[in-house]
Amino acid sequence: MKNLLTLALLATLTANGFAQQQVRPLMNVDAREQMSLDGEWNTICDPYGHGGWRGNWGFGRDLKFTGERLQDYDFDTSPTLRVPGDWNTQQERYYLYEGTMWYRRTFQAPAVKGKRLFLHFDAANYEALVWLNGRQIGEHVGGFTPFAFDITDAVKAGENSVVVRVNNNRQPDGIPTMNTDWWNYGGITRHVRLIETPETFIHDYALRIENEKTKRIVGYVQVDGKDKAGQTVTVSIPELKLQQKLKTNDQGRAVIQLNGKKLQLWSPENPKLYTVNLTVAAQPALKDEIGFRTVRTVGSKILLNGKETFMAGVNMHEEQIDRRPAGTPGLAPGRAYTREQDSVLLALAKELGCNLVRLAHYPHNEDMVKLADKMGLLVWSEIPLYWGIDWKNEKTYNLAVNQLTEMIDRDRNRASVIFWSIANETAVNKERTAFLTKLANEARRQDPTRLICAALQNMNNQLAHNVYTVEDPLHEALDVFSFNEYIGWYDGPKELCDSITWSLPEDKPVIISEFGGGAKIGRTGSVNHFFTEDYMTELYRHQFVMLSKIKGLAGTIPWVLADFRSPHRLIPGVQDDYNRKGLYSERGEKKRAWHIVKAWNEQMRK
Ligand code: GCU
Repeated sequence: MKNLLTLALLATLTANGFAQQQVRPLMNVDAREQMSLDGEWNTICDPYGHGGWRGNWGFGRDLKFTGERLQDYDFDTSPTLRVPGDWNTQQERYYLYEGTMWYRRTFQAPAVKGKRLFLHFDAANYEALVWLNGRQIGEHVGGFTPFAFDITDAVKAGENSVVVRVNNNRQPDGIPTMNTDWWNYGGITRHVRLIETPETFIHDYALRIENEKTKRIVGYVQVDGKDKAGQTVTVSIPELKLQQKLKTNDQGRAVIQLNGKKLQLWSPENPKLYTVNLTVAAQPALKDEIGFRTVRTVGSKILLNGKETFMAGVNMHEEQIDRRPAGTPGLAPGRAYTREQDSVLLALAKELGCNLVRLAHYPHNEDMVKLADKMGLLVWSEIPLYWGIDWKNEKTYNLAVNQLTEMIDRDRNRASVIFWSIANETAVNKERTAFLTKLANEARRQDPTRLICAALQNMNNQLAHNVYTVEDPLHEALDVFSFNEYIGWYDGPKELCDSITWSLPEDKPVIISEFGGGAKIGRTGSVNHFFTEDYMTELYRHQFVMLSKIKGLAGTIPWVLADFRSPHRLIPGVQDDYNRKGLYSERGEKKRAWHIVKAWNEQMRK
C-alpha cells in the first residue's frame, strides 16, 4: 500500500508540475546493479536558505541587464564536501551549522534502453529537495531513511547534473523536533547510488518462517515494471537445496511457500544466514543473506525461536568511534556511514557481552543492521518521535507513518531486527497517546511478525514511598513494557536504588530501555562526585541490585555504549559537547563501570 505521505507528495508534485518521479525505494539496493555517486560534491553553504539574493542565485536576475547567463558563472569552483558524510565534522566552520547546504555533482548516465534508472539516497538530514538537469524531481523529509526517484525518462545521454538542497533546521512539526540530546548532524549522510534495473524487476520481497517447529518459509515477491503480471519468479536457497517457481498475479505479486525443515534457526549464539536468490524473467539473480527465526512474547517472557531469551542490551548512537591517534588536532569524526565504522561499534557491544543493541533514536544505516545479522546481535530499531512532538498535527502524523514505513520496508528481511520502536520519552497526554496508539497499530498492520514497543518514562512513587511504578496508557498498544529510569542520576541518590521496589504489569515482558550515569574517562575521586568513574561504577552496582528484584524482567539496555556529541552537554573539561554516559569513551576506551555491566550481561544470559 503506497504510504500516505508518498501519495500526498506525489499529489503535490503533480500539482507543482514536477514529473512523477518519486518512488518507494527499492529493497536491498546493495545487491543491485549500480553506479556510486559518492565522492566530493560541490557545495554552497546558504545560511538564509534563499539560494542567494531573491532566491535566484542573486545576480541571476541582476544579470538580465547585462545579457550574461547564470550558467556562465563557474559553480564548480565552489568548495566540496564528501558524500556520504555530515558537514559538521568535515570543516570546522560547519561544526555548529544548522541551515541549508546546496550540493551538486555531474554524472555520465548509462544507456537506459530497455532499462529503468533510479537515483537512490540512503539518507540525507533532514529535508532534501532534488533537481536533475535543472528540473526538480522531488523532495524528502526525514533524516534517517532512504528515498528514491525514477529518472529513466529524465536523464540524458552524456553529462547529467544533480543538485540537492539539504536543510537540517529543526522544525516544531518535525520528527525529531526542536530538542534532542544528540548532535543535529546535517548533510547527505549516507550513500547515493544510481541503480539500474531491467524494465521489469523485483522491487521488494519478504521471507520468514511461520514457526520454529515446522520452519515453513512463507513470504512474497513484488515485481514492478510494465510487464509485472504473469511473470515467472524463482526463489532458491541453494544451501538447503530449495527452489520454487512462482507466477506473479495482476499486481505483480507472487506468494512464497517453502519447506525449511532443514534450516538452522538464526540466533545471537548462531547467527546463521542463508543466501537467497530471487529471479524474475530469467534475469540475473537478486541475492540476499537472510536468517530465519521467530520472536513472540508469552506473559512476561520474550521467546526467541520458542526459547526464553533475556535481552542483554546496550543503547548506541550512529556516531563513529574516534580512532585517530590521541592528540590529533581537529574535529573527531561524526556520523558513522561505512560498514567498517559500524563494525567497530557493534564489536564493542559484543565485547560488553550484549545480545541486543537499541539503535537510538532513529533508524541507523542499513549496513549497521546487516552487520547485526552477521554478528549475532538483536536489534531494537526506532523512529525519532522523541520528547515534545506536535501530536495534534496531521502532517506530523503522516511524516511519522512515512518514516515508519521506510524503516520497515528497508529492514523487513533482517533476522536481527525484533523490535520496531515508535517513540522515546514522550510525556503522557490524550493527543500523544491517541497518536502513538494509532501508529503502533499501523506498525503492527505493516509487520505483525515483530514486537512493537516504545521507551516510556512516566515513573512515580505515589503507591508508597519506595514503591515505584510507570503509569502510561500507551503500554496497552505495545508488546513489551519498556521504560527509561535514571534513579541515582536525574532522580535521587544512587543509594535510593537499594530501597526501591517496582510495581509493574506482570502480563508483559519488562525491559529497562535506559538507565545509567556518566563519567569523564580517567576522572576519579569519591563515589559521591558526579562524572567520576567511581560514582558511575557504584551507580551501576546499585542499579543492578534494584533491577534484579523486578519480576518479569526480560531485558536491560544501559544508556549508552559510548560517549557521544550532544548540544546539551557543555561542562568544560568534563563534557565538552559530549554526553558522558558511555560505557566506553568516544575513543572506545573502557570505563570502570564497563566491567559491572559485562558481568551482569554474562550472568543474565546464562
Ligand atoms: C534520555 C534520552 C537520551 C538521553 C539520555 C540522557 O533519557 O532518551 O536520548 O541522551 O536520557 O539524558 O543522557
